[in-house]
Amino acid sequence: MKTLNVGMLGCGFMGRTHSNAYNQVGHFFDIPFKPVLKCCYGRQEDMEQLKKFQKAWGYEEIETDWRKLIARPDIDIVDVVAPNFLHKDMVIAAAQAGKMIICEKPFAMNAEEAEEMVAAVDKAGVANMVSFCYRRVPAVTLFKQLVDEGRIGKPFHYRAVYLQDYTISQKVPAGGSSLWRLDAKVAGSGVTGDLLAHSIDAAEWINGPIKRLCAKTEIFIKERTNAETGEKVKITIDDACMFLVEFANGSIGTFESSRYARGRKNYQMMELNGEKGAAIFNLEEPEYIQFFRYADPDTGKKVEDHLTGWQKILVTNGEHPYMSHYWVPGTMIGYEHYFINQLADFLIAADKGEVCHADVHDALRVQKVCDAVIRSAKEERWVEV
Ligand SMILES: NC(=O)c1ccc[n+]([C@@H]2O[C@H](COP(=O)([O-])OP(=O)(O)OC[C@H]3O[C@@H](n4cnc5c(N)ncnc54)[C@H](O)[C@@H]3O)[C@@H](O)[C@H]2O)c1
Repeated sequence: MKTLNVGMLGCGFMGRTHSNAYNQVGHFFDIPFKPVLKCCYGRQEDMEQLKKFQKAWGYEEIETDWRKLIARPDIDIVDVVAPNFLHKDMVIAAAQAGKMIICEKPFAMNAEEAEEMVAAVDKAGVANMVSFCYRRVPAVTLFKQLVDEGRIGKPFHYRAVYLQDYTISQKVPAGGSSLWRLDAKVAGSGVTGDLLAHSIDAAEWINGPIKRLCAKTEIFIKERTNAETGEKVKITIDDACMFLVEFANGSIGTFESSRYARGRKNYQMMELNGEKGAAIFNLEEPEYIQFFRYADPDTGKKVEDHLTGWQKILVTNGEHPYMSHYWVPGTMIGYEHYFINQLADFLIAADKGEVCHADVHDALRVQKVCDAVIRSAKEERWVEV
């Protein structure tokens, strides 16, 4: 089996989920590579965190200069799990060095950056994937399967919600290592790039391209204290965002996201209502999908029986996406497995020279929609994507 030497660019939350995936993937999937956690990057000022990270996940070495890490001839795959403003330079450097690339979302700060990154990756012809990990929740993959099997039929309404509540307090600082998400120079946008990017990716994957949209964003707390300098800083990222869309297939949709939705920690919901059926997924109950069967996908005729109604399907059987790789029917998997699933798909595709979605082109699409959302909210009008 071929060795796959991993260079991890970041040692925070996503560094942990990705490192765990490399360590676990071979236990559950028949993959053509043996991942080796070769080297992880962190800033000099994050040395304590970096060393702890190295020990926890078993990296052979650490590095405080990510360019040096990418340039190492023994690194096969570069995994970008650093804050958003670094993605462009890291991905382009990795492509130029001929490495396989996995990059966290949002892919870039804006579509202009994303175009440059796609050009570099295409030119290098390297295997790539952008980590829209919720595609690999078995119930979400099943959602897509229901649509592809014609069980939803002609779509009318798509509804997506992504809510959190961790920035409600005025005391939450902006900037610094942990809350770089509130700093526009580091994050690019607020909930649009951070949360809605996932919802947009899922929507376009399941229901096709978004044609045009109209958005409203809000900043509830306009000034905060910088965690590192203690200075007051103006907040310019979107705390909340809502938008209406028209899909190319004629259906219409609504998207809503906030970090001020008291009680919601990582609530993500998607619903599609069609002529023949409907489906709902909600990340607070990730092992379930709800399905309403109105008409038979083959005959198109209304299902006339007394069991008509919403079915809540426990997605843990061997017939369900990914589940045959884990335990026995009726037993659950969790958050970390979405990253294991996507890594398995990526490594198997890379070995065959096949594209693994979401690739950089899918991510560029998402970035274009995100940019359109921000532009629409700023100009208070409908915009084409
Ligand atoms: N796919 C998902 O569901 C998901 C979830 C969370 C985060 N993400 C994405 O993953 C990436 C990393 O997010 P995270 O949650 O792991 O962040 P984090 O804050 O937990 O970790 C970020 C890492 O980068 C370092 N860092 C912080 N500021 C830096 C700077 N200025 N220069 C260099 N390094 C810096 C930190 O020390 C840390 O090692 C982001 O792009 C984020 O959007 C994706």
